[in-house]
Amino acid sequence: MTGGARGIGGAISTVLAEDGATVAVLGLPEDRERTHNLAARLNGAASKIHFYQSDVSIYDECREAVAAVLQQHGRIDFLVNNAGITRDHTVRKMTVEEWEKVLQVNLSGPFFMIKAVLDTMVERGFGRIVNVSSVVAEAGNFGQANYAAAKAGLLGLTKTVALEVAKRGITVNAVAPGFIDTDMTKAMPEAAIENAIAQTPVRALGQPEEVARLVRFLLDEKAGYITGAVYNINGGWYM
Ligand SMILES: NC(=O)c1ccc[n+]([C@@H]2O[C@H](COP(=O)([O-])OP(=O)(O)OC[C@H]3O[C@@H](n4cnc5c(N)ncnc54)[C@H](O)[C@@H]3O)[C@@H](O)[C@H]2O)c1
Repeated sequence: MTGGARGIGGAISTVLAEDGATVAVLGLPEDRERTHNLAARLNGAASKIHFYQSDVSIYDECREAVAAVLQQHGRIDFLVNNAGITRDHTVRKMTVEEWEKVLQVNLSGPFFMIKAVLDTMVERGFGRIVNVSSVVAEAGNFGQANYAAAKAGLLGLTKTVALEVAKRGITVNAVAPGFIDTDMTKAMPEAAIENAIAQTPVRALGQPEEVARLVRFLLDEKAGYITGAVYNINGGWYM
């Protein structure tokens, strides 16, 4: 699971570990301590969460982390591509670096991770992959051309890989959250957060655990007939 140390990813790691899964969190150097703290808060499940330093925007680091997980834990049943970043500016002000960085982390990252785990899943004839996209993939969002393009690309990647491995016991789905209460959202100006809440029919930000529960559902062994699907979880903000 990428970016599983905090926010939505932290909630997913928690839900999975509490359900008995061994969770490998792939993250940046600053995520090591966060992962340690997250694990320490879990009664009885702390030993279920393991940290692997890996920048998902670098293919070799993805491959090395996957090899280390396989060596230490023997198998990989699921992959959650959750790590993501924003670098917001209108297109006129967005730098080429901001465009490329977001595409590299949010779109190339999931491609690299999928490429790194697919052989072992195909060999075992089982796998569950969930990609964390965003409501803005379909709705667009002012100042987020790079982010919306990457998250929309992720839906195309999801559906294509789903087709390619459908006969192999591997499902590939995406979730598309709206405004969720995490550090990423807290970085938005106060007025923008208030505006988002006002425009959300349920009149609240979503909670990371609510997204985690949806991801958990899609990772279930019994969810084998769901593939290539995109699940909105946005309080009715976009339907
Ligand atoms: N928060 C929201 O409202 C919201 C809405 C829709 C979609 N999402 C998506 O959900 C995912 C999680 O969002 P969040 O709000 O929890 O974010 P967050 O910033 O709280 O956490 C993201 C995690 O990913 C890690 N990360 C960042 N770049 C990385 C890289 N190159 N390699 C490895 N790890 C990296 C970060 O260190 C962090 O631990 C993201 O993909 C985001 O785009 C979030």
